[in-house]
Amino acid sequence: MKRVDDFRLTLGKHELVPIMVGGMGVDISTAELSLEAARLGGIGHISDAMLPTVSDRRYNTKYVKNKLQQYKFNVANTDKSVVQFDLGLIAEATATHVRRTMEAKRGDGLIFINCMEKLTMNSPKETLRVRLKAAMDNGIDGITLAAGLHLGSFGLIEDHPRFRDVRLGIIVSSLRALQLFLKKSARTGRMPDYVVVEGPLAGGHLGFGMDWPEYDLATIFAEIRDWLREQQLDIPLIPAGGIFTGSDAVAFLEQGAAGVQVATRFTVTTECGLPPDVQQHYFKADEDDIEVNQISPTGYPMRMLKSSPAIGSGIRPNCEAYGYLLDANGNCQYIEAYNREVAAHPEAKKVKVSDKTCLCTHMRNFDCWTCGQFTYRLKDTSVREENGDYRILSAEHVFRDYQFSTDGRIALPT
Ligand SMILES: Cc1cc2nc3c(=O)[nH]c(=O)nc-3n(C[C@H](O)[C@H](O)[C@H](O)COP(=O)(O)O)c2cc1C
Repeated sequence: MKRVDDFRLTLGKHELVPIMVGGMGVDISTAELSLEAARLGGIGHISDAMLPTVSDRRYNTKYVKNKLQQYKFNVANTDKSVVQFDLGLIAEATATHVRRTMEAKRGDGLIFINCMEKLTMNSPKETLRVRLKAAMDNGIDGITLAAGLHLGSFGLIEDHPRFRDVRLGIIVSSLRALQLFLKKSARTGRMPDYVVVEGPLAGGHLGFGMDWPEYDLATIFAEIRDWLREQQLDIPLIPAGGIFTGSDAVAFLEQGAAGVQVATRFTVTTECGLPPDVQQHYFKADEDDIEVNQISPTGYPMRMLKSSPAIGSGIRPNCEAYGYLLDANGNCQYIEAYNREVAAHPEAKKVKVSDKTCLCTHMRNFDCWTCGQFTYRLKDTSVREENGDYRILSAEHVFRDYQFSTDGRIALPT
């Protein structure tokens, strides 16, 4: 019986353990987690979501305070179109996080950055260009384009000196999305170096509608693999979403996957950014504690624990401090939902907003507990302490369990 370690992921001159730890927004996939994946010979991701905020927390900068100061006059205003990010500061925050992470890298693995198109930041094209460029300038090994079709993203960076040397990949959830991306990117004369095929059991935002239960990863993966073969396109495919054991991974590797992307099992590791008390909620979740809902103002369905404080929260939109989901006109679906509730309850001190959430604030505060469908199996991956809590694992333990386990087994910590 094969193990993941019997396979290697070849990307250019790199021979990697075929395990990629997926990007998890707003510093859930921390630098520390990505560094462990790289040290162990795989691929780790940092995320570029809300990096000014992340930088404040990690490196004692004051981006959020200063931005709020600058736009304080607008806090009570429903029109957020004046709230703009300073492109120089976005570049600076991205540069610091990427540079510091890359400087700390040890081992033969790689560190990529997960870059979400849906973080439109009031100026979708310009802010995305700056984020991509700053990551490349500061030595990132690769960029995974996520949460969006990214039809123009290669075009935004085609003049960058590293455009052909940095590893560029995209996450898709259908053959159609991949075909569109390849068609639109063809003009740049460059193929993606890898494609992550993300199925409906993943954490974070889903590339499916609320009919997600009708899809399955193995079928989408096979469809994309067969089409690429037909087209004689040799692009490494990396399935993701619900790959919970080493044996699950081997099944895909035997079907022609070049590697696997995994995330949920790493949410309960020391290196993960989730606070320890939140990690206990992940460990203790049962299957019916998890839902896919539509409260994300991005318009994509999102999977999360039903007990997430973000659900039903009616806080005032925090766009002057954050504003990462404002579209080019300064709109966000949460602002509309919030204003509707305020208008309906003019006397209320606090309103409840149940159809949308202020995702910036709640992701920033680790109050939106997004998770993969198999979060309810995390309790089978650790041991219980005397106080009833589960033992937090090391990223190395989880990584090696994927790498070496057989027969669907999961190694418990000793
Ligand atoms: C807590 C959490 C946060 C996530 N955030 C992001 C994100 O910011 N961007 C993204 O592209 N994918 C995100 N994902 C998806 C993962 O990168 C990954 O593709 C997927 O969850 C793999 O499936 P698994 O969790 O079942 O292993 C997130 C997943 C989790 C569990």
